[in-house]
Amino acid sequence: MYTLGEFIINNIDEFYYSTESILRLFSSIKLASKAIHKEVNKAGITKKIIGSSGIKNIHGERQKKLDNFAHKTFVESFKSRNVVCGIASEESENFIVIKNEKKDYYGNKYIVLIDPLDGSSNIDVNVPIGTIFSVYKRKSSININLTIDDFLQEGIRQILAGYVIYGSSTILVYSIGNGINGFTLDPSIGTFYLSHPNMKFPKKGKIYSINEGNYDKFSDGIKKFLRYCQEEGRNRPYTARYIGSLVGDFHRNIIKGGIYIYPKTATYPQGKLRLLYECNPIAFLTEQAGGKASDGKNRILNIVPKMLHQRTPFFCGPKNIVSKLEEFIINCE
Ligand code: AHG
Ligand code: MN
Ligand code: MN
Repeated sequence: MYTLGEFIINNIDEFYYSTESILRLFSSIKLASKAIHKEVNKAGITKKIIGSSGIKNIHGERQKKLDNFAHKTFVESFKSRNVVCGIASEESENFIVIKNEKKDYYGNKYIVLIDPLDGSSNIDVNVPIGTIFSVYKRKSSININLTIDDFLQEGIRQILAGYVIYGSSTILVYSIGNGINGFTLDPSIGTFYLSHPNMKFPKKGKIYSINEGNYDKFSDGIKKFLRYCQEEGRNRPYTARYIGSLVGDFHRNIIKGGIYIYPKTATYPQGKLRLLYECNPIAFLTEQAGGKASDGKNRILNIVPKMLHQRTPFFCGPKNIVSKLEEFIINCE
C-alpha cells in the first residue's frame, strides 16, 4: 500500500514544476490537515473547537472557533516551508504576504488560495467538514512585491488543487492535472495511504444535492430541472442528498455519482460559493475526474476573477447531467 509521500515521489515526473516545491507544499498541507483532524476529533470534549469565535468574517458570517484555528494552522504551516509567497483565505479580508527568509535560495513562487474550514455550520453537530486548497504559480517576478493579480488567476492555471474531508475518516484528495487520487489517514501513525486511486465520476449517477429549502428563491430553470430529477423516466427519479458541506457533498457525489447545485438565490444573487476558494479547486478536481463544472453557462475554470472573495453560482458533477441543467437554465431565460 502506497503512502502519500511514496505516491508523490513515484509520480514526481508528472509534476511540471520543481520536485522540491511539490514536496514542500505537501509537507505543509499534510501537517496542517493532521493538526485539524486531531482537533476535530476532540470537538465534543474541548470548548476550544465548538461554537462561535465571537467575530464576523469578511462575508458577514459568524466565524467559528474552528474556522479561525484552521486558517491559522494552514497559514503557519505554509509560512515555515519557504515555498509559498502569498495566501488568500476565505477567513481573511486581504491576501497575506509571506517573505522568503533565504533570498538567494529558490524564491517562493507559489500562491495558495484556501477555504480552511468548509462546512462551518456542521462543526458543532459531528457532520463531515473539510479544507479546500488550491495552488498557482505567481504571475509577477519573484523580485517584486506581490499584487492582487497574482491571486486573481483563472482556475485553469491551477497547478495543484484538492481537499481534505474530516469525516468518518480523514481523506485527502488532490490533483496536479493528471487525474485525481484520494488518501486516507491512519491516525494511529499519522500517515496518509492511497485508498481511492484514479477517482472518476460514475457515468450513471442518481443523486442531486441542493438546499431545497431555498426553492422559492430559485429561478424557473432550476425549478424545472429539479422537477426533471424527480420525475419517473429513464434513469430517474434521482434521489436527494445534501450535507451542507461542499466537501462532503462533492466527496459523496464523485464516489456514488451525483450533481452538486448551488444556484443564485434572492439571498445570494451572485450565488453563495466563493469562486477562488471553493469553486475553482472543486471544478479542477471535477474535470480531472471526467466531470463538468459550470456557473450555468460558462466553464468555471475559464472565469476571470475580479475580486478575491467573488461568489458564483456553482454546478458540478457528471458531464451529461450538468449539461442537462445548463439546457434548463438557458431555455428559461
Ligand atoms: P463555509 O463553511 O466555508 O462558509 O462554506 C459553506 C458553503 C458550502 O460548504 C456548503 O455547501 C454551503 O455553504 C451550504 O450552504 P447552505 O447552508 O446555504 O445550504
Ligand atoms: Mn466553504
Ligand atoms: Mn470556510
